[in-house]
Amino acid sequence: MAFDQSRVTAFYETHPYPYRPPGTVGDDTLIGVPSDLRFINHYVFGGRRDFGKKMRLLIAGGGTGDAVVGLGRQAAALGCPAELVYIDLSTRSREIAEERCRKLGLGGIRFHTGRIQDVPELEPEAFDYIDFCGVINHVGDQQQVVDILSGCLAPGGGMGVMAYGQLGRTGVYHVQDMLRLAGAGQGDVGTARALLGALPETNWHRRNAIFAETSGEPDVEIADRYLNPADRAFTVAELRSVMNAAGLEIAAFVPPLLYDAAAEIADPALRERVAKLSWIDRCIFAELFHGDIAMHNFYVVKAGRRPDADRLLGEKAAIPIMTSIPAGQAPTIANGRYGFTMKCGPLARKLTLPGTENSASIIRAIDGVRSLQQIHRTLPGNMSWRQFQREFALVYRGLNGAGEMVLSMTPIPR
Ligand SMILES: C[S@@+](CC[C@H](N)C(=O)[O-])C[C@H]1O[C@@H](n2cnc3c(N)ncnc32)[C@H](O)[C@@H]1O
Repeated sequence: MAFDQSRVTAFYETHPYPYRPPGTVGDDTLIGVPSDLRFINHYVFGGRRDFGKKMRLLIAGGGTGDAVVGLGRQAAALGCPAELVYIDLSTRSREIAEERCRKLGLGGIRFHTGRIQDVPELEPEAFDYIDFCGVINHVGDQQQVVDILSGCLAPGGGMGVMAYGQLGRTGVYHVQDMLRLAGAGQGDVGTARALLGALPETNWHRRNAIFAETSGEPDVEIADRYLNPADRAFTVAELRSVMNAAGLEIAAFVPPLLYDAAAEIADPALRERVAKLSWIDRCIFAELFHGDIAMHNFYVVKAGRRPDADRLLGEKAAIPIMTSIPAGQAPTIANGRYGFTMKCGPLARKLTLPGTENSASIIRAIDGVRSLQQIHRTLPGNMSWRQFQREFALVYRGLNGAGEMVLSMTPIPR
């Protein structure tokens, strides 16, 4: 169906997204990838962002405000002189987002109702970070919009993106097509629920464990997923093409382990072939291998400026930050491995990560404030800095891979 901007605007006026009933203000659980400053600092700024400097943040397609609230709160907690700019097509969404910020006392945010395409005129000064979460799927001409956003980025800046994953959403578009054939309108949530309830076991939507259970979903979610007038999903290869054509480079997908299948292949010859692929080809392979990535969370920077936060592993002053494991908690290490659950959207994956007898003490000492040097000093015995670096790198590879750990030169509260 041809793209019609007025239908998208009308849809989000009626169905502000995500569903944030009155009383929802901002709590920690609503801060997530890509809009979490701890991840942004790691993947866009190589862990070295100076938060004492002015930082311009654009929330493009900000919806009901999770990202503007989360980024505003994190910047305020850091004492960062941040300038936040929010834009969305939907007046109703903007009102909800604005009210949430007002209740939290987050000031100095500029709110626009309008199209991302008009940002260069509305806000000519460049941005250090652009949040573009769950919006690329609904803009019609993705290339035009990404080109525009790329042009709004400061040279060392970057963008955090969430784009729907084509394979992981298998079945969702079948339901959308059936509803269109049946003449369902944008607000026909009852019809959508009736169809979802009637699907036979053989249907791809029913077979997709991520989406099969919909009875507990609020109406806004049902409308957004099945009755959306403009919705497309992407493969990793398509995202790479769109980003590269806009002069951007994908810096990382999060969690990184989900985009690397080599370790899961037992056959040594095949594992080696996969491991030798370029990084982006390994991501393309892993998407096909896993099949269930319904959301691609990733960071992009200007082409040729991909930062390497892993270099902080050599810095004594670098601070490891756990992104959701509470400080002081450590797993039990048995036979050189420990069990870990990686959350990917509604699904959870059980992983076993490598560790040594020192890993638990290292993990327990990480509190988001202590530096690598300070963590080293808490360890019993006379471990050398070199040995500590090896031990820490092992912990880091596993937990960063699972989306649980980032590195930073400054503490970043959530
Ligand atoms: C699925 S919602 C995502 C909201 C928010 N980013 C989040 O992740 O919670 C998509 C949002 O993009 C907005 N949108 C879509 N196309 C847009 C455009 N061209 N310019 C501005 N906003 C747009 C919609 O109005 C809607 O609020």
